[in-house]
Amino acid sequence: MDYQTVIIIGGGLSAMVLADQLATTHQVTVLMKADISENNSILAQGGIAAALSPTDCWQDHMADTLQAGYYFANEDAVKVLTKEGVSAVCDLIKKGFQFDSTNGALIFGQEGAHHKRRILHVGGDQTGHRLFSFFYNRLEGSVQLKQEHKLIDLVIEQSRCIGVRCQTANDEDEYFFADHIVLATGGCGSLYQLTSNNPTITGDGLAIAYRAGVELMDLEFIQFHPTMLVKDGRNYGLISEAVRGEGARLLDEEGTLLMEGIHPLKDLAPRDIVARTVYDHYLANKQVYLDISMIERFDVKFPTINKLCQKAKIDMQEGALPIAPGAHFMIGGIKTDLVGRTSIDRLYAIGEVACNGIHGANRLASNSLLEALVFPNRLASVISESTLTKRIDPVISTTNSVTYQSIDLPSLNTLQKQMTTYAGIVRDPFGLLTLKDWLESYPIHCPLDQIQPKQRERANQLLSAWLIVTSALRRTESRGAHWRVDYPNHSKDWDFVHTLRSKYRDKHPHNKTCAMTSRNK
Ligand code: SIN
Repeated sequence: MDYQTVIIIGGGLSAMVLADQLATTHQVTVLMKADISENNSILAQGGIAAALSPTDCWQDHMADTLQAGYYFANEDAVKVLTKEGVSAVCDLIKKGFQFDSTNGALIFGQEGAHHKRRILHVGGDQTGHRLFSFFYNRLEGSVQLKQEHKLIDLVIEQSRCIGVRCQTANDEDEYFFADHIVLATGGCGSLYQLTSNNPTITGDGLAIAYRAGVELMDLEFIQFHPTMLVKDGRNYGLISEAVRGEGARLLDEEGTLLMEGIHPLKDLAPRDIVARTVYDHYLANKQVYLDISMIERFDVKFPTINKLCQKAKIDMQEGALPIAPGAHFMIGGIKTDLVGRTSIDRLYAIGEVACNGIHGANRLASNSLLEALVFPNRLASVISESTLTKRIDPVISTTNSVTYQSIDLPSLNTLQKQMTTYAGIVRDPFGLLTLKDWLESYPIHCPLDQIQPKQRERANQLLSAWLIVTSALRRTESRGAHWRVDYPNHSKDWDFVHTLRSKYRDKHPHNKTCAMTSRNK
């Protein structure tokens, strides 16, 4: 039997779920940029939102998702997520995955902007880690997992994606070809100074897709999480919204409740509102605390967060955790349909790098682990039902000599500072334009294979930053996670308008030519 071949680029939960679905019927190769432990999924604390409680239904979950997303979401996509999410989680339980329960009854947690308790969790705050391990362990050698393979390029022939070029740990190029190519490369949290993301999450998939002409969408919407544990300027990691779901309250330095009078849901208001409120204090150099003193057995309910607090040498008896907002989730991404197809034939996207509109302008908490179950399952069906078409032979240059551009790129610290200051939680036109000019002073549109291997990640970060900034400049309104001081209100003109980007739309991207130097490979 001639197996169809599939390449999945990325090492998070979506990649594992898809690989699991296709492992016995397809020849699957998973390419990860670093090692297996370097991904965002294992950091996900809160849980997985699904309408499984007897008092809940997918329609209510859908309503909360649409409301939290400021009615900007694709309703069909949200229906798929919330409705199929119920069966996806039930299937997971049938496969043997165990969520936290008491006397056989599932325990449902609470998070921001959910009007019902519907967050399933495992080991308190270890849901992402346990889910990832569950799927990873099921693969058991049935797919090829290759670590330390950084994506450089998509190989597109006759308008079809037929393969990828990767950079190995030795900075060698390696090509992989397949019938189906799936991007699951995650978001871009490392563009900001404070983030909940793993440092390897550098916007690679986004930048590489853009260079290949793939259509992108909604990149101005970057979600900030209000509660990162930050002490003496050091970021210790995320404090889940589930902690506020158990009663924790945000306090200012005087002990006043921060969210009182701001929103009816107070500390469990939509994430963008809480993040902006904390940010206002942060800007005024005022410390904000999360009061957890009312939560009994905190160490049992939230073992991961408890460890972070121990590392930060927090006095848990005082129960006041110093917090600050940090970049958390890229809402926009590679534009896909409801099964993960992109604008290029045989190229698909799933997980955080994909955007099918489910999150609207502000993602509802714990919907992304659900997304990582539902949409890879859908894509697996599409790939399984597809017929084997004639393979296209790649036209690969076999030259031994590679010409690299010798370029100066900014340090990561400088880039993060610029993004945090000018394209962060609150944006103004002067800042966005300053940042755009600064980014365009670098050769951000250089093909990656012409850039020295050690500089490629930074080049991807710069291009991702440019995509975010140019999208933020284009959307002249405030909505959810995109907030502009010069346009502080929603505008009906933007109700149904998405900012789309692809190199074909951006016909004349500014670029700085750079000096050429060559070296032999
Ligand atoms: C959290 O645990 O607060 C994060 C959950 C999410 O971002 O979905």
